[in-house]
Amino acid sequence: MGVVRVQPVSALAGRVRVPPDKSITHRALLLAAISDRTVRVTRPLDSGDTAATANAVAASRATVEGALGEEVRVSGRGLRGLRPRPLIDCGNAGTLMRLLAGILVGQPCERVVLDGDESLRARPMTRVTRPLGAMGAELFTAPGGTPPLVVSGGRPLRGITHELPVASAQVKSALLLAGLVADGDTWVREPARSRDHTERMLASAGAEVLREDGTVGVRGPAERIALPDLEVPGDFSSAAFLLVAGTLLADPELRLEGVNLNPTRTGLLAVLDRMGADLRAEPGEEMAGEPFGDIVVRRAGALHATEVAPEEVPGLIDELPLVGLLGAMAAGTTIVRGAAELRVKESDRIAGVVAALRAMGVRAEEREDGFAVTGSARLVGGRLDARGDHRLAMLGAVAGLASAEGVAVEGFEAAAVSYPAFWRDLGALGGGG
Ligand code: S3P
Repeated sequence: MGVVRVQPVSALAGRVRVPPDKSITHRALLLAAISDRTVRVTRPLDSGDTAATANAVAASRATVEGALGEEVRVSGRGLRGLRPRPLIDCGNAGTLMRLLAGILVGQPCERVVLDGDESLRARPMTRVTRPLGAMGAELFTAPGGTPPLVVSGGRPLRGITHELPVASAQVKSALLLAGLVADGDTWVREPARSRDHTERMLASAGAEVLREDGTVGVRGPAERIALPDLEVPGDFSSAAFLLVAGTLLADPELRLEGVNLNPTRTGLLAVLDRMGADLRAEPGEEMAGEPFGDIVVRRAGALHATEVAPEEVPGLIDELPLVGLLGAMAAGTTIVRGAAELRVKESDRIAGVVAALRAMGVRAEEREDGFAVTGSARLVGGRLDARGDHRLAMLGAVAGLASAEGVAVEGFEAAAVSYPAFWRDLGALGGGG
């Protein structure tokens, strides 16, 4: 496992086009595969997670030509035309495994095994297998409710109304995708709104997407979908690391270009604003049915602690580790509540963030459903174990730049799961690389 030593810098400046959105890339490749046409996807993310999705699509008889990062053409096989191989490796990608389960239950296939790496094998899957089972699908998990999943598709499915106890875009998406081939309407109700990329993309592909009082649904059975050619906007969750680095260090400024600004993803902006950050979003045209634009960030004056409430959590679920780091440099105690989901991400991110902050000399405490961090203007630095988690690896690098003594990030290579060029981009802005 590689250790990268990140040295402190006095300032960052410049512009960077952040990598394409991971969530949108997964969805574009998967929806293309069940479209009635060949779909051109421009700038799909080239990363560990999205390579797993491209391979899964190619292993299901939809051909994928071209190169991730540039352009791919996916020859769609229609809503019921995929023929998956007996074993599909989802790597580290929970989004792939859950969405693919929702697709494969509609395909004529027997006992297809969806497996993944050690981290994915620890993640809960009954949240998708149970409601899909209630629709009439046949699928099994390992005894602990974890992968591998075994899916037998092509059983008659019926629409259901499913109430999610915890907001989850992955579960919602799996049910909507299965709903495309189910008899009757499939509805998903969430306690707070999770990212809505699937709904947007399905609507653009001609599916009948239903919306009522915060509940979303799809009308089935659909005859066909046809995803239009699309270009993938930049990933807000990747931009977030540079936004926080910029809040701590940008002088005169960082400009992050072409970032997805879908309001179900940008909850971090409001939190940064409350903490005293200096940033400005400049919305551009829509891309792939998604708002996007540039974000300009300058170094903040003094940061103030804040509280992140449970209803805010889905809008910044992947950015909460960064809130911990900001809290370490803000006056007062920053508290995150209602975020127990963090314990079942690529790693237990509550334990990982608190351990990392403590190892860097910060006062941080775990709560069952979040954490509390008491800040000071100075972050000492030290060592951080990425625990195989891409977002913790990048968190360590940002912390190192803003620290007094630097941070050694163990397992930095995990960053390639979502942002392979992170180190190079930091270097171009005057940090690391
Ligand atoms: C994702 C949804 C989120 C997020 C994950 C990507 C998606 O998970 O944490 O990184 O692409 O749908 P949940 O919404 O399922 O919690």
